[in-house]
Amino acid sequence: MADVRTNAQPDAETVVEAPLPPTHIAVRREDYTPPDWLVPETRLDFDLDPDRTRVRATLAVERNGDHSRALRLDGDGLTPLSVRIDGEDARWRMEGPALILDIASDRATVETEVEIRPAANTKLMGLYASGGMLCTQCEAEGFRRITFFPDRPDVLSKYSVRMEGDRVRFPVLLSNGNPVASGEAANGRHWAEWEDPFPKPSYLFALVAGDLKPNRDSFTTMSGRQVDLAIWVRGSDLPKTAHAMASLKQAMAWDEKVYGREYDLDLFNIVAVSDFNMGAMENKGLNIFNSAYVLADQETATDGDFDNIARVVAHEYFHNWSGDRVTCRDWFQLSLKEGFTVFRDQSFSADIGSAPVKRIEDVRVLRAAQFPEDAGPLAHAVRPDSYIEIANFYTATVYNKGAELIRMFATVLGPEKFRAGTDLYFERHDGEAATCDDFVKALEDASGADLSAFKIWYSQAGTPRVKARIEHDPEAKTATLHLDQHIDPTPGQERKQPMPIPLKTALVGEASGHEICPERLIVLDQAEQQVAFDNVVEAPLLSINRDFSAPITVEANRKPHELERLAQTDTDPFARFEAIQELMMRSLVAGANGQDPDTESVIRAVAATLNSNSLDPAFKAEAILLPGESLIADRMTVVDPDAIHASRDALRRALGSDLRDSLLSAHRSDGAAGHDLSPAAKGVRRLRTVALGLLAAGNEREGASLAKAQFDRADNMTDRQGALGILVSLDAPERQAALDAFYQRFHDDPLVLDKWFALQAAAQRKDTVDAVRQLASHADFTMGNPNRLRALAGTFGVNHWAFHSADGRGYAFLAEMILAADKLNPQVAARLVPPLGRWRRYEAGRSELMRQTLERIVAARDLSKDVFEQVSKSLA
Ligand code: PHE
Ligand code: ZN
Repeated sequence: MADVRTNAQPDAETVVEAPLPPTHIAVRREDYTPPDWLVPETRLDFDLDPDRTRVRATLAVERNGDHSRALRLDGDGLTPLSVRIDGEDARWRMEGPALILDIASDRATVETEVEIRPAANTKLMGLYASGGMLCTQCEAEGFRRITFFPDRPDVLSKYSVRMEGDRVRFPVLLSNGNPVASGEAANGRHWAEWEDPFPKPSYLFALVAGDLKPNRDSFTTMSGRQVDLAIWVRGSDLPKTAHAMASLKQAMAWDEKVYGREYDLDLFNIVAVSDFNMGAMENKGLNIFNSAYVLADQETATDGDFDNIARVVAHEYFHNWSGDRVTCRDWFQLSLKEGFTVFRDQSFSADIGSAPVKRIEDVRVLRAAQFPEDAGPLAHAVRPDSYIEIANFYTATVYNKGAELIRMFATVLGPEKFRAGTDLYFERHDGEAATCDDFVKALEDASGADLSAFKIWYSQAGTPRVKARIEHDPEAKTATLHLDQHIDPTPGQERKQPMPIPLKTALVGEASGHEICPERLIVLDQAEQQVAFDNVVEAPLLSINRDFSAPITVEANRKPHELERLAQTDTDPFARFEAIQELMMRSLVAGANGQDPDTESVIRAVAATLNSNSLDPAFKAEAILLPGESLIADRMTVVDPDAIHASRDALRRALGSDLRDSLLSAHRSDGAAGHDLSPAAKGVRRLRTVALGLLAAGNEREGASLAKAQFDRADNMTDRQGALGILVSLDAPERQAALDAFYQRFHDDPLVLDKWFALQAAAQRKDTVDAVRQLASHADFTMGNPNRLRALAGTFGVNHWAFHSADGRGYAFLAEMILAADKLNPQVAARLVPPLGRWRRYEAGRSELMRQTLERIVAARDLSKDVFEQVSKSLA
């Protein structure tokens, strides 16, 4: 009976003993059924107080279809204080955390009342306190921590919200939609009422109460409507909101121009909060942001931070259509809104900056975050088949591979047909909860194309590996491209089908360096395929998967001198980048395997890139940056982190000493004042620090003094953090001096202090594992703040060499952090698990230590289902 609570009506036969809803058991996509009850209107009344907030909900409910099932209202940690149906006290019962009501009629008004404790909410889901304010986070299943409701994305409701709270603590009261009334109340309290005219799922509900100040602006839409914009922050942070505001206006204009999407309310609010589980949230008309994606100035934010702010502001804004106006039917369709919206924000960033560099950065993220998912025990499809905890599925696969999938549609259809498709999608499904199939259908109907073969990208996990070989017949002046594809098994998917893989391909003349066969789009859709080329007038070099047209790995058997040649001549910037990276990768893998690393061809390629007069500095910086150690690990059959580190270190040293002069001049190139945020200036700064890193590898003493000089002279955070990021890995007196100076100057700024923690956790040093342990007991460390926890434990987990310290102390540290964090915030704790998950690929000693660490975590008492799912799947 312990789990069955009732309101103890006298007739005890209404008390039904129901089994606990199986919380650690999978929800399956194939079990989807439409909601039994709809809620066309919702009225919420909040009596706000950090310690105990009263929530009264009035739901207009409507039976959906011909059935006699009860109304089931999801709850999480809620106890009903009162339940009324059509104004009468009603019978109710609990099934686990859910409230069950039998309703005889087809329509009713249901009123519930609960009390919640925002200040005690450490999960940061539902209504919680952060820095003296109250705010909400409801996606995916946080609304049920605020009030009883059918908390699923296919129940759309019109909300009106009344909030009342202390006028001094909470002078600003915000919710979705438009403000409709406000006034004074007794005891120094005041109230406000908001109404959102657009029906929305509960995950898009938001409320904010706090002492906030607005940066106000306005935007005139393409139909001439004026929209008031406001970014709400603590008063002292107001000067740091200009970039976010400028980005918002750019994003609004871009979505009109590129997708024909206009904003639909008269008001758009953004609020920055310091404690936030994710990046930001697209609540209708009231986006709530992790302050890391709002606040920036030249002093405290790097160029990367500025870019991320523009990206995330745009991302959340774009959700207004791809997510809010058209939402998801169920959480298996998450990529419908996320993959599409990431594709949209990537295109936006490409348009406002350098498109080739943006593409390289996006592929870097995909390779670093998504390829490992596909290759490990947590592999899942872009549209997963099941989950235990949906919060675990906000992954690089759903987001970034999902975006690649949309990009492939756009590539195959071409821009006009793709736009016709998205127009039809938005028009057809406006105000609805849609599926990934609906999206594809709209693209097909608008374009006349048959995309059915491509749907397998939604359901089949794993990264396809394509082998490519070009065969030239000089007599006939023809060439044949031999292609085959293979996908390794992933959990639950033993056998894989061939997938349609769009490959932008060109042939470059080896002697002339010209594009002898212009780019064409080849769709590889068989296990093996051959493609013929005519007019191949000289020996061809294969330029394939240009612009990274498909999210795959390519093994093209090109010789080092061919790659060198492509690195200089390929007309596709991404393919040029790839050629250099492939040269580096082969050298690094050979070195790690104890073979001859062929350093010479890498040095020649890097030198040619550095010394080129035509390439821009940002591109140079990306191209000469060596692949990271976990990327090298992905290429090895048995991973030995020490061998990988040694190999990469050796190549960096060779580059640094052999190319000292070119690197020095790249490091010294000027034309990038700190306040200049143009792509050109950012490129100069990026190259300055990348070159410095190699110089320091070549000559530690010289590197340390150059880095300290850059650190001391910096008039912007990019140069300062860049220099410190190099110093932290060195054994030089400048190291501690710079760390201390940085701390002294910025310890009052939490976002900059996060950098200080992260830089030390990323240090390439033997003692990093001891350092992070010490930092975990630093006075400024707290697990309660997700940014701080990620800065330390998250960064350490992806510091390949330090984390995989052979004695297992890195694993032990991460496990302690996971278990401690799980008590407070399971969502954030679970996100720390994946680095431990790939134990099968490591050499025997580490592999066993990693496995034991996972066993120890899963054996812990009261483990959350978030961590349970990630750990148990990693062990399976
Ligand atoms: N929907 C948010 C986004 O991608 C991410 C998010 C998910 C935020 C869950 C909070 C909680 O834009
Ligand atoms: Zn999103």
